[in-house]
Amino acid sequence: MKSTKSLGFIMGVVLLASGCLAKPSSRVTVMENEKVLDPDNQFILRWTVLDGTNIEIEMQVNCTGWLGISFTEGQIGAPGSYSDVIMGGFNDDLQMGYIEDRHIYLENPDPANGHMFDDSNDLLLMSATYEEPWSIVRFARSLNTGDPQDIAIVPGPMTVGWTYSSTDDTSLGHDVAGISRVTFIPI
Ligand SMILES: *[C@@H]1O[C@H](CO)[C@@H](O)[C@H](O)[C@H]1NC(C)=O
Repeated sequence: MKSTKSLGFIMGVVLLASGCLAKPSSRVTVMENEKVLDPDNQFILRWTVLDGTNIEIEMQVNCTGWLGISFTEGQIGAPGSYSDVIMGGFNDDLQMGYIEDRHIYLENPDPANGHMFDDSNDLLLMSATYEEPWSIVRFARSLNTGDPQDIAIVPGPMTVGWTYSSTDDTSLGHDVAGISRVTFIPI
C-alpha cells in the first residue's frame, strides 16, 4: 500500500506538471456516494465530486485481476461512436496498483485491439489494494478532460459499463461484464 501511494504521488507530480489535474492532495477523500453496479453485489462503485471540476472514483470488485468501467457515446456500428474505458487493478506479483486510460472505437470494433490506450492519459491513480476477496482501486480525473478519446461526466443518469477479470493482463478480455445507470452528479 505504501508503494502504491508513492507511485500515485509520483504520477500526480507528472500529471501536475502536464497540467491535467488542478492539485493532487495527500488528504484521503471521503467517498460520498455509492452504487452497486451488478445484481450479485460484486462490483461496488463509490465517488465524490471535488470542487465541481474533478471527480474521485473508487471501484471495489470481487476479483483478483483487472477491473474497469466505461462510458459510451453512440452505438456499435455507428460512425464516430466510441467507449471511454478505464481499467485498473492491483498486481500482486509487482505489489503495485495500475490504472489505464483506454478507448474502443465502436463503428467497427476489432476484438484484436479492442481496448486501445488513449493518446493522452487523463487518469491519476490514487490508491490500489487487494483485501481478499476485494480489489479496490481509486483514481481521480477531470469531469471533462477535454480529451476526444474520453467522455465527459455530466449531470444526470449516465450508462456505465462494468467489467472485471481474474488476470492482471489488461490485453486479455473480461470474465464478467454488464451495464448499469449511475447519476454521478444530480441535475
Ligand atoms: C467473491 O467471489 C467468489 C467467487 O465467485 C465467491 O465465492 C464469494 O462468495 C464472493 N465473495 C463475496 C463477498 O461476494
